[in-house]
Amino acid sequence: MTDLAWVIGWHISCNFQYNQCMFGEAQLLERLPVHGLGKPLFFYRTIGSTNDRALELARGGAPHGTLVVADEQTSGRGRAGRPWLTRPGAGLAFSLLIRPGDGDPDYQPLSLNVLGALALVEQLRTRGAAASIKWPNDVLLAGRKVAGILTETAWLGERLECVIVGIGVNVRAESVPRRTELDYPAVSVNEIMEAPVPRIDLLCAVLESMAGWLPRLGSAEFVRALRENTAFLGERVRLEWEGGALEGVMEGVNGQGAAQLRMPGGVVRLVEGGGYRLRAIRPPGGPSSTPR
Ligand code: BTN
Repeated sequence: MTDLAWVIGWHISCNFQYNQCMFGEAQLLERLPVHGLGKPLFFYRTIGSTNDRALELARGGAPHGTLVVADEQTSGRGRAGRPWLTRPGAGLAFSLLIRPGDGDPDYQPLSLNVLGALALVEQLRTRGAAASIKWPNDVLLAGRKVAGILTETAWLGERLECVIVGIGVNVRAESVPRRTELDYPAVSVNEIMEAPVPRIDLLCAVLESMAGWLPRLGSAEFVRALRENTAFLGERVRLEWEGGALEGVMEGVNGQGAAQLRMPGGVVRLVEGGGYRLRAIRPPGGPSSTPR
């Protein structure tokens, strides 16, 4: 091996180790919990899916605030059964367990889904980035997808036992999937921000926002914050799902997490649930609805 090749190899290895050790159980434990979220912590260097692990823990009685974090996911899941790969050192993948307690607001899984998106958008905006919530599952940064949310539930008979809010963020450029694997143009946090954002800072900041909003879920303030951060607000959009489609003007998201679409006759229609694909309808020659 030439000296140059050895020096390059050494730098790559140091960088990799630096990234690895800055994001480990010990570093997370120094910063967690954040207002009760993140305790207990289950950290994995490699796992199949943090949502699967969190669901398993929920069924075993894990408390509210339990957090599962992984550096790498080998079978991470996105919506509609799509894969969500998390490469080591490149992305942020975590699942937060929300367990409604006595006297807590009536947690709607969809409102927790948009809460996850809102918390991330707020934190990216605080850092000066143009982030927005693309209802129902995505976070956009500079018009491209930077993160996805997958909310899943555990039931005990008729009663909602737990909601798992799983969040996956493209942090470094290597975390962005290849173009052929994409359903929507994608980007990473570090490609857009002036300075790289440490994953641990982003994670703690998102938990901080979530903790702040949790007691105010469904409130007028929550609805206002959702509205201010909704992508395509006031624009004509097309919602597609298996077997149907709908076009209207995006008016915002209500306190339960449902999208509000103004129909051609003026009536505002609420759209709930998952499995939707949202696109802006933009005139030819105008800004693209699927930015490159
Ligand atoms: C989507 O955009 O389709 C949602 C992606 C959600 C991915 C996150 S990564 C952490 C958590 N664990 C999973 O297996 N999925 C979610």
